[in-house]
Amino acid sequence: MPTPKLVTISGSLRAGSFNRMLLREAVHAFGPAEVVEADLNLPLYDGDLESSRGVPEAVHVLADHLRNADAIVISSPEYNKGITGVMKNALDWISRVKGPVFKNKLTVTMSANAGRTGGETGQFMLMSCLVPLQAHVLPGPMLCIAGAENEFDEAGKLINDRYHKVLTGKMEALRAAAEQ
Ligand SMILES: Cc1cc2nc3c(=O)[nH]c(=O)nc-3n(C[C@H](O)[C@H](O)[C@H](O)COP(=O)(O)O)c2cc1C
Repeated sequence: MPTPKLVTISGSLRAGSFNRMLLREAVHAFGPAEVVEADLNLPLYDGDLESSRGVPEAVHVLADHLRNADAIVISSPEYNKGITGVMKNALDWISRVKGPVFKNKLTVTMSANAGRTGGETGQFMLMSCLVPLQAHVLPGPMLCIAGAENEFDEAGKLINDRYHKVLTGKMEALRAAAEQ
């Protein structure tokens, strides 16, 4: 099989985001791939904007990356026990693009948060939001990094072997599914 195309999506725009760090670890665990980092810095969804100017170019760029993906990994914090506004906004825009974008796309989700549940509630909500988009979210143990500020070293590497093992399992399963 040619080198798989892996799209990474961070639900946090922050440069120092722990979810971005987790995605870098996920890419490493996935192995050789053509990696595209999705840009969710999009205008807020507004029906008037859509009616007057159409779906923004940045959304089409994002949709093209997703359509071309062999595998997708999403890492997002929860905000106030729900999906981040950035993540929801991106999914709302994607749902306005003509034709399937996420349909049957092999996807894994994960989260890193300051709190003690590691964003589990927000991650469940993320998975619910992916249902109408028909993403193929791989089953398996959830990866929820709790107390994220203590779980990465200065190089952005995961410290805890337990988390690393779950991450590796998820990314190996994603690769195996993408190569089938
Ligand atoms: C608006 C907002 C809401 C938050 N809500 C939660 C929450 O519900 N649960 C939690 O564990 N942490 C919450 N946090 C703290 C985040 O877990 C923490 O900022 C984390 O580092 C965000 O992820 P990032 O590092 O990828 O940006 C919240 C932070 C912000 C800014």
